[in-house]
This record gives sequence, C-alpha cells and structure tokens, in this order.
Amino acid sequence: MARSRECDERRLDVILGLETSCDETAAACVSRDGRVLANVVASQAELHARYGGVVPEVASRRHLELAAPVLRETLECAGASLREIEAVAVTRGPGLIGALLVGVSAAKALAWSHRLPLVPVDHLHGHVASLYLKPTDLEPPFLCLLASGGHTLLLDVRSRAGYTVLGSTLDDAAGEAFDKGARLLGLGYPGGAAIDVLATQGDPTAYTFPVARVPGLDFSFSGLKTALLYAVRELEPDELERRKADLAASYQRAIVRALIERVVAASEQVALPRIAVVGGVAANSELRARLGELGAVAAPLPLCTDNAAMIASAARYATRIAFPDYLELDAYASAA
Ligand code: KG4
Ligand code: ZN
Repeated sequence: MARSRECDERRLDVILGLETSCDETAAACVSRDGRVLANVVASQAELHARYGGVVPEVASRRHLELAAPVLRETLECAGASLREIEAVAVTRGPGLIGALLVGVSAAKALAWSHRLPLVPVDHLHGHVASLYLKPTDLEPPFLCLLASGGHTLLLDVRSRAGYTVLGSTLDDAAGEAFDKGARLLGLGYPGGAAIDVLATQGDPTAYTFPVARVPGLDFSFSGLKTALLYAVRELEPDELERRKADLAASYQRAIVRALIERVVAASEQVALPRIAVVGGVAANSELRARLGELGAVAAPLPLCTDNAAMIASAARYATRIAFPDYLELDAYASAA
C-alpha cells in the first residue's frame, strides 16, 4: 500500500540532467514538454585559467566535489523533489573520460537509488537539443551548425532523435581557434567571449586572415591560427597592445566568414527549410548577427555553452535504460 501511494504522489514528468564532459559541472530539470525548470552551471574556468586550458585530472576532481551541491541546488531551484523525477539523463560522451565518468557514476547512483530509468545522452545531440526547449521549440527538418570548443559540424537534422553529419573540421574546432587566438593575444582562457568583446573596439578589415578552402563541406582552422601567430610576432609589445582590438576583430571576422561560407554552401546543396546554430561559438555576437541575416535560429545564449538542460532535452528523444540495467554502462571519450 505504502508503495502505491508513493507512486501516486509522483508527478513523474521531470527529467533530471547531468553534464560533466569538460569543465562545467551542470545539472538541470526539464519537463517532458520541454520547459526548463532549473538550469545550474558551475564553471571551473577560473580553476583552469592559470594553466591556459583544461587540465583533465583537475576537472575530474572538481566534478567530484561539485556534483552533489549542484544537483541539490538544481532540485531546490526547480522546486522539485527526487520523487518527481521520471528519469535521470547524463552525458555519456564525447569529452574528457575522467570527467565523464564522474557524471555517469553519479547519475547511475542517483537513478539506481530511486529505481529510476537512466538515459545516456551524446553531448553533440545535447547541443542540437538545446533548440527543442521552450520557447525555441524548433521542429526538424533544419540545417544545423554546431560550433563548440571540441567540434565544428554541419548537420542535416530530420528528426529530434538524431542527425546526419554533412561536414566537420579537419583540424581545430572553431571554439579551439577562438581559444588559441585569445591565448596569442594574451586574453586568457577560455578566450572566445574575450575576443568577442575586444573585437567590438577593433577594425575587422585591419588585417586579412586567410579562410581555408577545403573540399566539400568540411572546415579547417589551423592555418588561420598560424597566420595570427605570425602577425603577433611581427609586432613590438607596445604596438601589439595598440593593435590588439584590430587583431581580435579581424581574426573573429575570418572565423565567422569561414563558418558562414560553409553554411551557405550546405544550404545550397541540401533542401532544408531552416538554418540553426548551436554550441559555445553560437554565443558569438558577430556569428549570431550574420546568421540572423540569413534568417537562422540561434540557441538562446545561456544554452549555447555547455549545460545540462540541453542534455535533459535530448533525453526526451533518446533511448531509456530501465532500472537496474545500466550499472554496466560506460562513458566514451570520442564519437564512434
Ligand atoms: O559548447 P562549449 O561550452 O563546450 C564544448 O562542447 O566544447 O563551447 C566552448 C567554446 C570555447 O571554445 C569558447 O571559447 C567558445 O565556446 N565561446 C565563444 C563565445 N563564448 C564561448 N566563442 C566565440 N564567441 C563567444 N562569445
Ligand atoms: Zn559542448
């Protein structure tokens, strides 16, 4: 009797998501119909800044410390108890394996202790699913540019459950190009947002940086980074300081141009009615403005960089593993 009453009391329409693939410890509650009830992100960026990039072992340890308080804060913020959770979603990969394992283990423990199903989610599917949350609630089909610190992909999205890859980067990801550029300009880590801000004070036509032309719908950013390195090397420290904003603006212009060119080429090749953009680089103001001119839909700013709302959102369209069949589940570092 007690057990059935307990079941009746459950609202059972909330998915609890957990994301720990890199240096953000994030948890979120999302309703089955795509409302974000809570979205908590604890960034470790400051911790890694002194090393100029993410240190995997440091990230894993910090996830361990942050997972429980972040989950607690998320439930509190959503005004939900674990009894109202219908499933636990977690990023299974790709990402830093140690960091992923902390999230997967925490999610398994939480799901198992409450006899809940577990939904393993691919991080990239998560980024795309940031578009499926209210109020955006975008319906496929659409062409999607996914630009983050680890990936740059053009996707043909025909259903909310998945996508087909049309093109990807042959070397650095767009976010990586921003981060490496920021490092060369002494702007710290992570640098995309810092370049974005500094670029507003510079002249984007001051320097001409090359946009790599690779066949098909792929991208390449490594040459661009080298071009910036050479430009920086030629300047005396005080002149570099004076030209920094121009360099940032010109460098950003080149990255954005490379992304837009490929989006336009893809949209001419595949008949998809809409264009959308997701991932950390989708937060870039120039990219948003240029894509806006093409009528593209951009993920809302708080959902561009890593978060767990997008993971819980993707879980609505992914396969659930029933209690207790997920105890053997493993994480994966790179996409299959
Ligand atoms: O999606 P994300 O949080 O993590 C990965 O899945 O990789 O993306 C992080 C990337 C970083 O490279 C960061 O520099 C970049 O997104 N980023 C930006 C901006 N905000 C974050 N790049 C350009 N402009 C921004 N405003
Ligand atoms: Zn990401």
